[in-house]
Amino acid sequence: MKLLDRTLLITGGTSGIGEALVQQLAQQNIGLVIIARNSAKLKKLAEQFSNIHPYRCSLASKVDVEKTMGEITDNHPDISVVINNAGIQVTPTFLDSDFDRNGIDNEITINLTAPIWICALMLGNMLDLKAPAAFVNITSGLALFPKKNSAVYCASKAGLRNFSRSLRYQLEETQISVHEAILPLVDTPMTEGRGKGKMSVMQTARAIIKGIENNREEIYVGKARLIPLLARISPSLMGTIMKAG
Ligand SMILES: NC(=O)c1ccc[n+]([C@@H]2O[C@H](COP(=O)([O-])OP(=O)(O)OC[C@H]3O[C@@H](n4cnc5c(N)ncnc54)[C@H](OP(=O)(O)O)[C@@H]3O)[C@@H](O)[C@H]2O)c1
Repeated sequence: MKLLDRTLLITGGTSGIGEALVQQLAQQNIGLVIIARNSAKLKKLAEQFSNIHPYRCSLASKVDVEKTMGEITDNHPDISVVINNAGIQVTPTFLDSDFDRNGIDNEITINLTAPIWICALMLGNMLDLKAPAAFVNITSGLALFPKKNSAVYCASKAGLRNFSRSLRYQLEETQISVHEAILPLVDTPMTEGRGKGKMSVMQTARAIIKGIENNREEIYVGKARLIPLLARISPSLMGTIMKAG
């Protein structure tokens, strides 16, 4: 599936991997509808590229998502690719003093429920296009093998992985494909101050775009490509490696 001449919706296009996707795609003839909360960053991107259409929306709010998606489907009925990229990660373990029970719903809503809402809200328009279209959900190696901290994050990404697979089965008789990009540790504000050997955002974005264009249902990026192989050789070793994060 070539992305040229299409209109894409990207959530979380103002930072990290989402911003790198936007920077790479905006230089081509591709319309980009972007969702994020930070108005200043949205405005800056829209000033940089004329083909960017920014929408301020909090993915933590069902009301906000339904309202914004209504505006987006009215204004951009030609969107044929949706990249559910926005996400947050809360790192404390359940035993840490700074662990906040009140944040659990928020993290699950942004990482899992909102992408599901968006797929449901976009589906009608995308079916009406009667042309190839795609949902792309951004997950992590942690969706397959969790780490010790960020348990809610790991659970939300595993949920998004299974949702993507099931939706793919549901849509197999349609012209809509469902892709999952499984990422390694990437150098973004989300991972600031932790981890080593991180992949750059630009390399990551290039690999995601290539995977979509090559119609890969599961796009394993960078070191994440080793996960299926190592998991076959020794699932317990893979579990131990990933546990450390
Ligand atoms: N970095 C990694 O190592 C890594 C590895 C595997 C998977 N991933 C996944 O890759 C995706 C992008 O992560 P990243 O590292 O690029 O993160 P990031 O730099 O922190 O960017 C996150 C983006 O999500 C948006 N966002 C966060 N909460 C939002 C909300 N409530 N409503 C709307 N937008 C919201 C942010 O925009 P605003 O702040 O303006 O709202 C921002 O544009 C995430 O799904 C993450 O789980 C990352």
